[in-house]
Amino acid sequence: MTAPEPVPFSTVLRTASSEEHEAAEHSSFMSHLLNGRLGIEAYADLTGQLWHVYRALESRAGQLAEHPLTGPFVDRALLRTAAIERDLAHLRGPDWRDGLAPLPATAAYVARVEELAAEWPAGYIAHHYTRYLGDLSGGQIIRGVAEKTWGFARKGDGVRFYVFEEVDNPAAFKRDYRARLDAAGAAMDEVERRRVVEECKRAFVLNGAVFRDLDARYPLSA
Ligand code: HEM
Repeated sequence: MTAPEPVPFSTVLRTASSEEHEAAEHSSFMSHLLNGRLGIEAYADLTGQLWHVYRALESRAGQLAEHPLTGPFVDRALLRTAAIERDLAHLRGPDWRDGLAPLPATAAYVARVEELAAEWPAGYIAHHYTRYLGDLSGGQIIRGVAEKTWGFARKGDGVRFYVFEEVDNPAAFKRDYRARLDAAGAAMDEVERRRVVEECKRAFVLNGAVFRDLDARYPLSA
């Protein structure tokens, strides 16, 4: 009798985080955004919060590229910081850095990513997956809504964060990304894989907390 094929790690992550994904997608802030009910200042604030998050995800790229587990994930086609900065210059003007403070939930999220980037590369992968594969997926829906709601040029200033100029074929890219996840999972033992799955759920929860902070700042009547 042959042993059953192990479930690919990419599938494990997707399945294990599906409830958390649902919760993030249907959070009050995201729902208001998708319904076109938020003002542009709320969208600009979200973009500013994401700037803090992506700086944490991307500022140690050099070191992470050297590590055997995280190396395959460091991919210049994904880097978002420069695109976010162009969006922020458009949304907030040339002095976009002024007053761009992280919300408490953003600060907590950033602290976790920084900790993992420095100390636990496998855990960092959970955060990499949660953000970048999300941006390549649901992020495209958000871009369409943002263009329509606030009149940004298609794939232009204001929504560049959601535009991956160097990814020609998103479906193929996602397939290849999942293969990278599967290889990383195969290089871990079962205990480590479980820890990474837990960290992935935590990444979703940290995102949800940012949405809650934003929702409190831009309340809408139901
Ligand atoms: C407006 C809210 C959202 C919508 C409409 C949305 C929608 C989607 C859709 C349709 C997919 C599947 C795409 C595909 O199969 O290729 C997807 C995948 C994904 N989303 Fe979201 N999403 C939202 C919010 C989020 C958030 C806030 C996160 C995390 C921060 C996230 C993370 C992910 C991830 C990691 C995947 C990849 C799942 C996988 O195939 O492994 N999404 N999303």
